[in-house]
Amino acid sequence: MSFSIGLIGCGFIAHKHLNTICNITNVDLTAVSDLQEERMDDIVTAYEEKALTTKAIKRYSNYLDLLRDPAVDIVVIAVISGLHAEIAKQALLHRKHIILEKPISLSLEDADAISRIALANNRKALVCHQLRYRPFISRLKELIDAGYFGMPYLGVASIRINRNKEYYQSANWRGSWSMDGGMLVNQGIHLIDLLIWLLGEPVSVYGEIANHAAGYKQTEDIAAGIVSFSNRAKGVIEANTVTKPKHIGYQLTIFAEKGTISIGGPELDEISRCYVENHREISEKLMETASQKDEHRRMYENFIESLTGGNNLLVTAEEGKKALEVICGLYQSHQQGKPVTFPLSSFSTTMMLD
Ligand SMILES: NC(=O)c1ccc[n+]([C@@H]2O[C@H](COP(=O)([O-])OP(=O)(O)OC[C@H]3O[C@@H](n4cnc5c(N)ncnc54)[C@H](O)[C@@H]3O)[C@@H](O)[C@H]2O)c1
Repeated sequence: MSFSIGLIGCGFIAHKHLNTICNITNVDLTAVSDLQEERMDDIVTAYEEKALTTKAIKRYSNYLDLLRDPAVDIVVIAVISGLHAEIAKQALLHRKHIILEKPISLSLEDADAISRIALANNRKALVCHQLRYRPFISRLKELIDAGYFGMPYLGVASIRINRNKEYYQSANWRGSWSMDGGMLVNQGIHLIDLLIWLLGEPVSVYGEIANHAAGYKQTEDIAAGIVSFSNRAKGVIEANTVTKPKHIGYQLTIFAEKGTISIGGPELDEISRCYVENHREISEKLMETASQKDEHRRMYENFIESLTGGNNLLVTAEEGKKALEVICGLYQSHQQGKPVTFPLSSFSTTMMLD
């Protein structure tokens, strides 16, 4: 069975999707949509070159026209974050399956609505937390779930990167609460998703944030948080976009009863600790996977197989909401000056404008 893809948003991340679409079987690109004609041209040219095809790709400047196209089975949503929810809901209502870039949305209500509409229309919704599909991380998750690490005690997610004034001024949605969400929502969400996927169910969070560049952006550049989990594990989030002169990168460390794992670097592929008590062979095999970075292909394959009933989708809309909820909790905690407990009744990043 083959599926036709419509791509909405033809900017930076769209090219990553395009590469994957060209590299897997059973999918092809049928239509694209962007407000900028030249971006659609660039994507179509790149597709023709990579897929070695001269097939005509339809171009829609209004994404609703792409959603009305009966030839499109799957819609990839790679537009700016503040538009994710509206386009996702519309796509599902038009009975398309969706591959939705992170963050799922900028409000918890919208995340719930996406889940609800997907269910009501019997459509699949994948949220692009692609690091869950990276071989090292997915094997680590299997080992934790199988009990090799015993009780998880502490996880630390460090995001130490550089986003300068030029970055925020390169597009007017960047650094705005209503269209980007904060730095945790944009840059921090991948590691926060892994932290909670590996440690367990969050029950509360305390956090504080700061913005040292209010002259050209609204959102935070410093964030610190402590997450408590139902299994008594603790999570620490420390994130900044002011690292000089350039990125240190990312670091994820898990301290558990029977092992310690620490992986980091700009590409999250440098292991500084990989220890599983009494199972040297397991840690050695795990370390061998650290350089494998085919997560985007694995994510697409999981999605396509889920459409044909072959397996379960890993990052559904419900799963995609989890990291967003922890971040929203951290923001709300900053506003209230005290820990907040989950589930949150409601939150939108626009509430940070208050
Ligand atoms: N999964 C990841 O690792 C990852 C990495 C980078 C970006 N992203 C996410 O991808 C999204 C896009 O980021 P980007 O860096 O590609 O941004 P970008 O600004 O390069 O591209 C966004 C594109 O959306 C288009 N667009 C805006 N409004 C539109 C509309 N109404 N209809 C059609 N197109 C519209 C813009 O013209 C632009 O071409 C963001 O939500 C970001 O969080 C995810």
